[in-house]
Amino acid sequence: MRTDFVDLKYVPGRDEVIAEFFVEPNKISLESVCNHIAGESSIGTWTEVKTMKSRILRDLKPAVFSIRKKDRIVKIAYPLGLFELGSIPQLMSSIGGNIFGMKAVRNLRLLDIRFPKRYIKSFEGPKFGIPGVRKKLHIRKRPLLGTIVKPKLGLSEKEHADSAYQSWIGGMDIVKDDENLTSMSFNKFEKRIIETLRMRDKAEEKTGEGKFYMPNVTSETHEMLKRANFVRKNGGEYMMIDIVSVGWSGLQTLRKFNNDLNLIIHAHRAGHAAFTKNPKHGISMLVVAKIARLIGVDQIHIGTARVGKMSDTETCEIEDEIESKFITELSGGHTLEQFWFHIKPVFAVASGGLHPGSVPKLLERMGTNLIIQAGGGIHGHPGGSEAGARAMRQSLEAAMKGIPLEGYAKKRKELSQAIKKWGVK
Ligand code: 3PG
Ligand code: 3PG
Ligand code: MG
Repeated sequence: MRTDFVDLKYVPGRDEVIAEFFVEPNKISLESVCNHIAGESSIGTWTEVKTMKSRILRDLKPAVFSIRKKDRIVKIAYPLGLFELGSIPQLMSSIGGNIFGMKAVRNLRLLDIRFPKRYIKSFEGPKFGIPGVRKKLHIRKRPLLGTIVKPKLGLSEKEHADSAYQSWIGGMDIVKDDENLTSMSFNKFEKRIIETLRMRDKAEEKTGEGKFYMPNVTSETHEMLKRANFVRKNGGEYMMIDIVSVGWSGLQTLRKFNNDLNLIIHAHRAGHAAFTKNPKHGISMLVVAKIARLIGVDQIHIGTARVGKMSDTETCEIEDEIESKFITELSGGHTLEQFWFHIKPVFAVASGGLHPGSVPKLLERMGTNLIIQAGGGIHGHPGGSEAGARAMRQSLEAAMKGIPLEGYAKKRKELSQAIKKWGVK
């Protein structure tokens, strides 16, 4: 039984999963490597096997239906029966699995996946999404402002809570833990939550505004669920999770568990660049963000549109994907069409190397449905964290009114100090 998966006349059905790859073969033709990729990611192996059934070929055979020679972009349609509904680990062991390590492949990058309706329907998506988060925070239009307690590691529980308090009273809406802060010998999870939420209450009383804390619950799965529960029991509204470190299974478990907790889920993507950064190999951040939306995070880091400290690509394209209900295929680009059905939009988080002077450019590129976070850009302010938070709030006010920062800073000491230190860029 021959298993040739390339069929350039094939027209995919609405019920199929479509994957788009960048493909660079290793000493074989582009067409043959596509055959290997389609087979290894579905029903095939390196040689024909006697156990193959015509039934399997009829029902589960994928089709490589598009090979664009000039830029080596390839599209493969996979019958839905190849996938277990509601399981991202199984999806990743198929189209995100063995294929990257095959000898026949020099480079391979999974650029995008189109999920059909039945697949989408097997996931819950965000519990809150953009509208739910805005409603909970009582912030209708403007971007949300957040900070990360710095230094990343080393502060005691009390020092952490005090730093959070300074940032809140200076004007931050949200304070979050850093990605590598969990439960440390010098700063234990439970004590930190209690202390920081106590200071949150104090900050709310002082400012009359809603203040929010995003504790990092990242851990081994059972422990993570315990920590999420602890946050809820102590009056928290949010939890943060490092989605790459805990893996898709951990995230799916936490999302299901959250149906009883009702916390807003903030997704940090630390580690993503190990496989998203090389433009020729790996898995794109777009795919990571789509899967996170499907599972149901409410907020996710997607980059800073070339403003901050991390190298980033496609930030605006990713933002479009996580916010829209329907994505059309961009001509020449690599965004596949996608209907999101019942899945709510996710809040984009810009974080990493930001400071008050970055805000106007960020808003110009990423719009106002945005969470702006700055760690160093708040706690590195010459006047300290509270002044830093004030400068950030002033910068947002100016940007929302369309007033150039330099002019707005003339009568605002904190903003003017921030601009002097970091500039407007
Ligand atoms: C984060 O986790 O988002 C950050 O630690 C950002 O920190 P920075 O603003 O100092 O780069
Ligand atoms: C940080 O932790 O310093 C950053 O926020 C990470 O950058 P990212 O938001 O681009 O993932
Ligand atoms: Mg960080």
